[in-house]
Amino acid sequence: MHDARPRDLRALGASFQVHGTLVEAAPHGSGHINETYAATYDQAGTPVRYIHQRINGHVFKDPARLMENVSRVLGHAATRLAGRPDASRRTLTLVPARDGRPYVVDADAAVWRTYLFIERTRTFDIVETPAQAEAAARAFGQFQSVLADLPGERLHDTIPDFHHTRKRFDAFAAAVQADSCNRAHACADLIAVALAHEADTDRLLAASAAGDVPERVTHNDTKINNVMMDVATGEALCVVDLDTTMPGLAPIDFGDMVRTATNAAAEDEPDPARVVSRPEMFEALVRGYLSAAGAFLRPTEVAWLAFAGQLLAFEQALRFLGDHLQGDVYYRIHRPGHNLERARAQLALMTSIERQRDAYEAIVRSYS
Ligand SMILES: Nc1ncnc2c1ncn2[C@@H]1O[C@H](COP(=O)(O)OP(=O)(O)O)[C@@H](O)[C@H]1O
Ligand SMILES: [Mg+2]
Repeated sequence: MHDARPRDLRALGASFQVHGTLVEAAPHGSGHINETYAATYDQAGTPVRYIHQRINGHVFKDPARLMENVSRVLGHAATRLAGRPDASRRTLTLVPARDGRPYVVDADAAVWRTYLFIERTRTFDIVETPAQAEAAARAFGQFQSVLADLPGERLHDTIPDFHHTRKRFDAFAAAVQADSCNRAHACADLIAVALAHEADTDRLLAASAAGDVPERVTHNDTKINNVMMDVATGEALCVVDLDTTMPGLAPIDFGDMVRTATNAAAEDEPDPARVVSRPEMFEALVRGYLSAAGAFLRPTEVAWLAFAGQLLAFEQALRFLGDHLQGDVYYRIHRPGHNLERARAQLALMTSIERQRDAYEAIVRSYS
């Protein structure tokens, strides 16, 4: 997704309201979407770090509107956190451009933004302990809670229908029908499992249409590596990666935590027998999430938490399998059949959650 051209970060940095002189800049973090750099500036003898980030214009078609969302969200979060100890490590802080806008457009028409660097934190790519799962879920719950009273108009949809499971299913079914790479025959077993679960795509959407699950401001990319943890205390301080923060459903955010944090294996584990959803991680997520979100969620939303992980694993399986059928055009692959393996693993995860349904419902009930 990145083009590997060297960037002139000196000129770029100078177009933001950053004091001092650039000392060094290097690629930072393990994100797969944007290009992220950590840049150190000498400010009257003190080194101060910033994040310069180039927004991926292939994924996000309207970065200016995206940045309108981000600055509204962060403005509100700053107001809500004002006065709390360590407030500036508990939310991202945008550094405006010299012209006052929240971003800069470079010579290639790419959009850049700058954040204060949140020091003495780290992120994890894989959840190692239930305590980490609990801390991350609490952070995402707090994020939703802070935004539950965001004033003003509805946020822009930065990726329209991002988690619209019915539309995802229909796109998948069309890819099966077209079979443009002649790959459907060889994965007929997985296609059959996916098609058999069609009814699941409409269930949460129907509850939303009925008013039981209201539209809220949600994060929509609730992976553990989007949570900055304090290196000293392990506390989840701050969530990052706000590009998909937009109107959405709370159980979807929770479901993607379940999908990514409870899986005992990697997302692309080739052996589906190793893919299981771990109940101790699920319980930690419920405990952390409801400790922060329990106060504003309706019982009719909480009722979806046990199913949400299954739904998100299904949605992701549809996306991987659809991409495999279309010739691997969206997800970068590192070996032939990679998207097929990813799809098989997601379907195994879906099945694992489905099998533990009663236990997961009981866990949710015990915390609500
Ligand atoms: N303000 C910040 N301070 C310190 N590190 C950050 C900051 N913002 C992002 N990062 C690091 O950079 C990584 C990638 O940023 P992110 O916004 O998640 O981009 P992507 O969309 O590519 O995942 C994060 O996982 C985090 O480790
Ligand atoms: Mg990220």
